[in-house]
Amino acid sequence: MPVISRRTLLKGSAAAAASFSLGAGLAARSGAAAPSPLSLKAQLIDAKLATDGITPKVMTYGTDQAATGMPPVIRMRKGEPFAARLVNALDEPTTIHWHGLRIVNAMDGVPEMTQPYVYPGDSFDYAFTPPDAGIFWYHPHCNTLTQMGHGLTGVIVVENPSDPVFDAEIVLNLRDWRLGNGGAFLAPFKPRDAARGGTYGTIRTANWQQEPAYDAPSGGLVRVRLAATDVTRIYTLGADGAAAVVIALDGNPVETPFHLDRLDFGPGQRVELILRMPDTEGTVVRLGNFRGSHPWTIATVRATGASLKRDIGDVKPLAANPIAEADLSTAERIPLDFTATAEHAPAPSICGTLGYTLWAINKVPWPGDTLDPVAPLSELKLGRSYVLQVRNRTPHAHPIHLHGLSFRILSSNKRTMLPPPTDTILLLPDEQAELGFVADNLGDWLLHCHIIEHQKTGMSGYFRIA
Ligand code: C2O
Ligand code: CU
Repeated sequence: MPVISRRTLLKGSAAAAASFSLGAGLAARSGAAAPSPLSLKAQLIDAKLATDGITPKVMTYGTDQAATGMPPVIRMRKGEPFAARLVNALDEPTTIHWHGLRIVNAMDGVPEMTQPYVYPGDSFDYAFTPPDAGIFWYHPHCNTLTQMGHGLTGVIVVENPSDPVFDAEIVLNLRDWRLGNGGAFLAPFKPRDAARGGTYGTIRTANWQQEPAYDAPSGGLVRVRLAATDVTRIYTLGADGAAAVVIALDGNPVETPFHLDRLDFGPGQRVELILRMPDTEGTVVRLGNFRGSHPWTIATVRATGASLKRDIGDVKPLAANPIAEADLSTAERIPLDFTATAEHAPAPSICGTLGYTLWAINKVPWPGDTLDPVAPLSELKLGRSYVLQVRNRTPHAHPIHLHGLSFRILSSNKRTMLPPPTDTILLLPDEQAELGFVADNLGDWLLHCHIIEHQKTGMSGYFRIA
């Protein structure tokens, strides 16, 4: 994986620094109507994730024959066509879903619903134009707990040419691994945990490394872009040793940037920060997870060189994405209850069932990614406004993700600060919230919990927009 060396970083001017990413970047910006597709080959590799051994059969995407590490950070440009060819070199069917991108339904990557399975040895061409700038991510939508759990989660950065310039950028793909002694994969879940908050990994990583250490210019402004791609873990992010300001959540700029104290974000969600590096060379800034009683380090950033003496206030605000606001005077209300359900065995599926149903939306448990007779949660009319009245009737938090559309949290009995529009709400225990959106994208769009054990044991449904 090409990681920028400290030397390169020190030499880079602010403008040059802004054009690379420490998480390894891939240009995908031909600007032409039909860009040549980025090759994304889903494949099995050996990877060093644990300290006590090499993990065999890790799943990743590579852009050439020999991937050596995590899926590439894909760079796209807002409003410019993007194309990728998924080549399946796994030994099971797969697809790619582009989480958070409001693109046409046929490119959404849900097998049986929006496209056929991509069988081993086959390929599938994705082509679309991302309408929004920000940080997004990509992952399979088939046998999802295993395929994501074994590595197939990658970050997408959609650039806006009018973005402010930073002195450095760090992209962090946050996730865990369920590994036993010697680094071999453990069973992906425990039924008892699936019926609660989900089964946690044993190894915590950022960019497939435990506590990776980065360098950035002293006194400089660093754009840190984090994506929670784990199948289970909810993070409570904090920064020690530097001023940090939150500028975007789930791909959308916050109206008023705010100081990072402690910020919860769940599977599927993203956070963008400005870190103002300390002036003294060698000072280490620590990004940590403060959830629970034992905080731990996600990654560190060390100040290098003479201070650039930048001011956080120097950064101009990010431009808002073109997301329509719901018309609340005409919006139809749709109640959605998230509950536990009686346990029973679902029908077998080519995309892997976990063998249980434990959860339900409006009393219907559906494992998702399966061809079965479940009806849409609701049929929506193209162009109309809707308000989802969501209720979490469980004692667990659920990151609820809607494909293909972004919504705004209009009200909640559990929060004072309402975030910008999003594709994923971390629905808190006993939270009741109203989510407003315009049904401006045709097709069948999944809504599911992004704790994948919950998704795959019933907490999944879809809307049909026609
Ligand atoms: Cu990341 Cu169905 O979603
Ligand atoms: Cu859930």
